[in-house]
Amino acid sequence: MSSYIIEGGNKLEGEVTVSGSKNASLPIIAAAILNPGVTKLYNVPNIHDTQITLQILKYLGCKIKKNRGKIEINSKNIIKKDIPEHLMNQMRSTVILAGAILGRFGEAKFSYPGGCDIGARPIDLHLSAFQKLGINITEEYGFITCKCDKIIGANIDLDFPSVGATENIILASIYAQGVTQITNAAMEPEIVDLAKCLNKMGAKIEGAGTNIIKITGIQKLKDMSYTVMQDRIEAGTFLCAAAVTGGNICLNYKTPEHITPLLNKLEEAGCIININDKKVYIKAPKKLKAVDIKTMPYPGFPTDLQSVLASSLCLAKGTSVIVENIFENRYRYVPELKKMGAKITIEGKTAIIKGVRKLTGANVKSTDLRGGACLVLAGLAAKGITTVNNIEYILRGYEHLDKKLNDIGAKIIIKEGE
Ligand code: UD1
Repeated sequence: MSSYIIEGGNKLEGEVTVSGSKNASLPIIAAAILNPGVTKLYNVPNIHDTQITLQILKYLGCKIKKNRGKIEINSKNIIKKDIPEHLMNQMRSTVILAGAILGRFGEAKFSYPGGCDIGARPIDLHLSAFQKLGINITEEYGFITCKCDKIIGANIDLDFPSVGATENIILASIYAQGVTQITNAAMEPEIVDLAKCLNKMGAKIEGAGTNIIKITGIQKLKDMSYTVMQDRIEAGTFLCAAAVTGGNICLNYKTPEHITPLLNKLEEAGCIININDKKVYIKAPKKLKAVDIKTMPYPGFPTDLQSVLASSLCLAKGTSVIVENIFENRYRYVPELKKMGAKITIEGKTAIIKGVRKLTGANVKSTDLRGGACLVLAGLAAKGITTVNNIEYILRGYEHLDKKLNDIGAKIIIKEGE
């Protein structure tokens, strides 16, 4: 496992461009399975999770050409309909490939997905939705086999607006007979991006971005090219990095409306934020003020930005209260932050952060993707040297995080693991 060695105490200043969205790229790459031709995608981040997804597509029989953020996927000659366990294990969102394979062929075989350990993360909503679409599911020896003659459109009411389940239903029902309607659908911008991409391919999806999505089955998708949206979580991470270092940065980011809850909290904490011509400017005060947050499905405060804002609040004046409502295991970074001098107590879903005057560099380890990012931010603000170990978690979701931060004044070097 590799590490970041961070020399803390440097203000971030300068301009940074937000990469393509990880969470939008993954279902969009899956969508390319549904098009029995060539799909061209732009602005796909080159990170572990997109690499694994493309590796699975290659295994299925897709031909892939890659040139930086541009990816050409030819899905004409897919020969396999299963996902090998060692690839399925690599991350949670491999499960949405099942919906795409099913949508195209009416059959798929896969095991339970892996991913960051941030909670139980079952896939019951995905599987019960598949059943409603007329798919038979059997489970044997740790493998789930899904089969049907024809996917039949259905009304699916989700118990919880799961992002992955909403994407899986959309992907599985593109060629369904009749209409599929999802109620209590997830409303995240990544769902809108997936629907925009599929509609550009010729699909008929209405209502993405609201809690009712209607998919009318069509006969065939067509070739097209699509540019993936920018990553709202990366954007938010850079803003929190500026906030924790008392910095002053400009983000090249076209869709600040996707991170309104974070922008509001940063302003409440004393940052000055200006939005102008596809750029977001943030000027942080010397000392932030404490703020409270509750994570919620979109358009609420995103769980993926909980840890990075928490890390900034460790140095704020006053006590901040965080309530994590989405994943039950999302405070695994807390013992690591405590090693750096943070004062945090956890009571169930609630974290109480008492602001301290300083954090000090320490040897810490990433426990998951966003938990790892929050340790990097704490390291940027801490006195002395912080070593963040197990950065492989961070590399799953951030493209060149060290380089981008160094370009705006951070001092981070990578120590490669054996
Ligand atoms: C996606 C995002 C992740 C983000 C999360 C919530 C991707 C690749 N990942 O994850 O970064 O943190 O949305 O915004 O887009 N649940 C069930 N049963 C299911 C499915 C989900 O109980 O079948 C529960 C989960 O355990 C969790 C909650 O629903 O408590 C939200 O999960 P979900 O929205 O599905 O998250 P993901 O799609 O896994």
